[in-house]
Amino acid sequence: MILDELEAIRKDAEESFEKAGSTENVEELRIKYLGKKGALTKILRSMGKLSPEERKNVGQRANEIRNGIEKFIDEKTTELKKHQAAMKFRAEALDVTAPGRIPKLGAEHPVTKTIDEMTRIFMNMGFSLTEGPEVETVFMNFDALNAGPNHPSRDMTDTFYITDKTLLRTQTSPVQARTLLTKKPPLKIISPGRVYRCDTPDATHSPVFHQVEGLAVGEGITMADLKGTLSEFARQMFGPDTKTKFRPHHFPFTEPSAEVDVSCFKCGGEGCRVCKGSGWIEILGCGMVHPNVLKVGGIDTEKYTGFAFGIGVERIAMLKYEIDDIRLFYENDERFLKQFR
Ligand code: DAH
Repeated sequence: MILDELEAIRKDAEESFEKAGSTENVEELRIKYLGKKGALTKILRSMGKLSPEERKNVGQRANEIRNGIEKFIDEKTTELKKHQAAMKFRAEALDVTAPGRIPKLGAEHPVTKTIDEMTRIFMNMGFSLTEGPEVETVFMNFDALNAGPNHPSRDMTDTFYITDKTLLRTQTSPVQARTLLTKKPPLKIISPGRVYRCDTPDATHSPVFHQVEGLAVGEGITMADLKGTLSEFARQMFGPDTKTKFRPHHFPFTEPSAEVDVSCFKCGGEGCRVCKGSGWIEILGCGMVHPNVLKVGGIDTEKYTGFAFGIGVERIAMLKYEIDDIRLFYENDERFLKQFR
C-alpha cells in the first residue's frame, strides 16, 4: 500500500504540473513533491521500517517517480518560458505598416525671402553686403546724414531714443555713413536690416520693419547710373516689362532726390486694386549722395560722386504677394506663413 501511495502522488503531480500557469507555480509544486518536507521525500524517509524486499521495490518505484516529476518540471518550465517570450514579442511588436508621423516643415518668412531676392539681384550687379547695428548713434542716424538738429524725424514722438546719444535706427541709411568712414571709393554696398519708428500699428504701419539700403560711390557716377541700376532692379524683381518713373522728392542726404514708382505688375498700368487705380506703385527713395554726407568720410567731393537708395522690404513683399496688412508679417500665424512654402 505504500506503492499505492506512491502511485497517488505520481497521479496528483502529473495533474498539478499540467495545470501550472507560471514558473512560480512550478517552483511551488517542486517544493510540494521533492522539497525537504515534500510528499515523495516523506515516503523515502519512512522506508527504514520496510523489509529489504519491499524496500527494493518501493525504492525503485520512488526513484522512477522522482525522475518523472523532474521531467514534468523541465517540460513545464520550457513550455512556460516559450509562452512568455511569445507574449513579450507580441507586446513589443513594431507595426512597420503603420503610417508615419509627418514632421512639420518650416518655411522661409516672406520678409526673409524678399530680402534674399533683393540681395541676390544687387549682388549680381556687383554690390557687396554690409551690416550695421540696430542700436545706432544719433550722429550716424541723423547728423552724418545731413539731418540737422531741427529735422522733424528726430522728434521724440517719431524715434525710439535709448539715451540722448543713442537710438533704435529709424532707417538703414546710417550704414552709408559707417561705410564712408571705413571704406574708400570706389564702393558699392547694400545693407538690409531692421528699422524702428514710433508708429501706431495699422494695415500699412509697424513700429518695426525692414529696409534695404544701397550706396555706390566712385568717379564719374551720375544719375544715369542710379536710374539704370534701379530700373534693372525693378525689372528683375517685378518682371521684364516693368517701367520705372523717377519723381522729384526731398531727402536730407541726397541732392537731387527722387521717389521711384514702378508700372503696376498686376494690371500692366491700366489701373487695378493693387495700384489703387493709378497704374503706378511707389517702391523706394533714392538720389545722388549729398556732398555733406561724402564729407563725413573725408571724401573729395570734386573727385567722387555717388548715388544711394532705400527700399522698404515689407512694402515690396506686400505688393509681390498681395498681402493687404503689414501686421500679418509679425503675428507668427502658421496659416499665413504656410502659404510661402
Ligand atoms: N532712409 C529713407 C527713409 O527711410 C529712404 C532713402 C531715401 C534712403 C533716399 C536713401 C535715399 O538712401 O537715397 O525714408
